[in-house]
Amino acid sequence: MSLAGGRRSEEEIRPPATLVIFGASGDLTRRLLAPAIAHLNRDGAISKDFAIIGIGRSPFTDEEFRAHLDDGAREFTPPTQGRPGDLPAKVVYLAGDFAEAELFQRLKSTLEGIESRRGGARNRIFYFATPPDADETIVEQLGREELATVENGWIRAVVEKPFGHDLASGRQLNKVLLSVFPEKQIYRIDHYLGKETVQNIFVLRFANGIFEPLWNHRYIDHVQISVAESVGVGHRAGFYESAGILRDMFQNHLLQLLTLTAMEPPAAYEADAIRAEKVKVLESIRPYTEGDIDDWAVRGQYGPGVVDGRRVPGYREEPKVDPASNTPTYAAVKIAIDNWRWAGVPFYLRSGKRLGKRVTEVAIEFKGVPHRFFSKASGEMQPNVLRLHIQPDEGVSLKFGVKIPGSVLQIQPVYMDFPYARLGAPIAGGYERLLLDVTHGDQTLFIRGDEAEHAWEVLTPILDAWAKRPAPEFPNYAAGTFGPEAADRFLEKDGRRWRTL
Ligand SMILES: NC(=O)c1ccc[n+]([C@@H]2O[C@H](COP(=O)([O-])OP(=O)(O)OC[C@H]3O[C@@H](n4cnc5c(N)ncnc54)[C@H](OP(=O)(O)O)[C@@H]3O)[C@@H](O)[C@H]2O)c1
Repeated sequence: MSLAGGRRSEEEIRPPATLVIFGASGDLTRRLLAPAIAHLNRDGAISKDFAIIGIGRSPFTDEEFRAHLDDGAREFTPPTQGRPGDLPAKVVYLAGDFAEAELFQRLKSTLEGIESRRGGARNRIFYFATPPDADETIVEQLGREELATVENGWIRAVVEKPFGHDLASGRQLNKVLLSVFPEKQIYRIDHYLGKETVQNIFVLRFANGIFEPLWNHRYIDHVQISVAESVGVGHRAGFYESAGILRDMFQNHLLQLLTLTAMEPPAAYEADAIRAEKVKVLESIRPYTEGDIDDWAVRGQYGPGVVDGRRVPGYREEPKVDPASNTPTYAAVKIAIDNWRWAGVPFYLRSGKRLGKRVTEVAIEFKGVPHRFFSKASGEMQPNVLRLHIQPDEGVSLKFGVKIPGSVLQIQPVYMDFPYARLGAPIAGGYERLLLDVTHGDQTLFIRGDEAEHAWEVLTPILDAWAKRPAPEFPNYAAGTFGPEAADRFLEKDGRRWRTL
């Protein structure tokens, strides 16, 4: 893994490569890829010979496409990241439909032209910034034109989530990708894994003597993983209506956070060892049966409400949403991991749109002391909680009880806080880090094919049960709240409460 370091040649650090973006006129390219590339170029992290070929149907010239990326980089660079920097010198745009063989012939000659002018290795990154239904066509076309094999260089394919729509289509996607790219060349991207605090879960757990001995069923009561969004469905209604919260957030972000929190120490700090441990966690999750879904999962959909002082419509009133839509925009799921470390420790996962706040965190709640000799008058004894804050503010905090100064014994919870910003170093966005890892051939922070399939296996019984049973209670939470009442009762029946976000 790249965190491990080591001495490398200039070609290995900044390999000259061509990034081919399928879907280059789309939202992801402008909002997330353009700023990431401009930052990497500004910081000298990519080769001076790095080239971009964008592909989409919209009719851009090369200059217009460069201006489009430049605008995106400027508009979507957060002020904390400084000025975005220029794009690489070589930026080309090819307009066409993925179904046209002729488009891929033009791609071939453009790629070969850039590569022969550059000399040296023919390194190619194919980035699928495309709707999932386009992947198969692109892979077939790349295979037919023999674009995915080179003698002098490497080939890497970056694939965006969702990794299919369900287990069957997830398997089919893997089959299609593997028909042209070996697994070693496939980089399934989940930008959460590029976040510093997410990578810090590894370091916190495996580089500190004090946490790992406590990281098990003897000391941990339960774990809560929350990904709360204050935004609504926005312009993504077309996709979201058929996806919903489980496909959009749980199949990737939430289950990724769970596997990193729950995995065993890997044998080595490298991609396959780490990914093998993550897969073992997914394999240990107790399967749901359709009959008992209500004991393990709760769904919700937002109605109208107030977010950040602004009135917002309910999900069913959003543009392009069915006024009788049954799509869940909120879910809370309880997960049992049947292994030695986690026996009897529930993991509660929740995520929703239009919640009161944008927050992502992992909260590890420890068991109480074995014997309480402080009287009730001493104040409320609250459990110790280790919180890993992932967004918007990245950091770690630990809650513990202290005595309030004075002659009466009174206990109060206090927080030991480490905000990541205190380190002073700018925190790179997830895409920047992950794109750099692709150029270095480091798959550690990417999802392996079997991992994506196991994640679908975990969720399929819930998806099936909810698809069969409409939700007459929808909408069941107001925008600006923290989800439906049913989600509170879901934890209360286990004698627990959601943490305040
Ligand atoms: N946007 C995000 O924040 C985000 C975040 C995470 C993951 N993702 C994933 O990233 C992928 C892309 O998302 P997006 O939001 O960028 O989608 P988008 O805005 O709809 O862009 C789709 C792109 O694909 C192109 N395209 C579609 N069909 C094509 C065809 N037959 N031939 C040629 N070009 C075609 C479009 O070209 P034209 O528009 O020129 O026709 C456009 O450039 C999706 O899988 C999405 O789930 C997106």
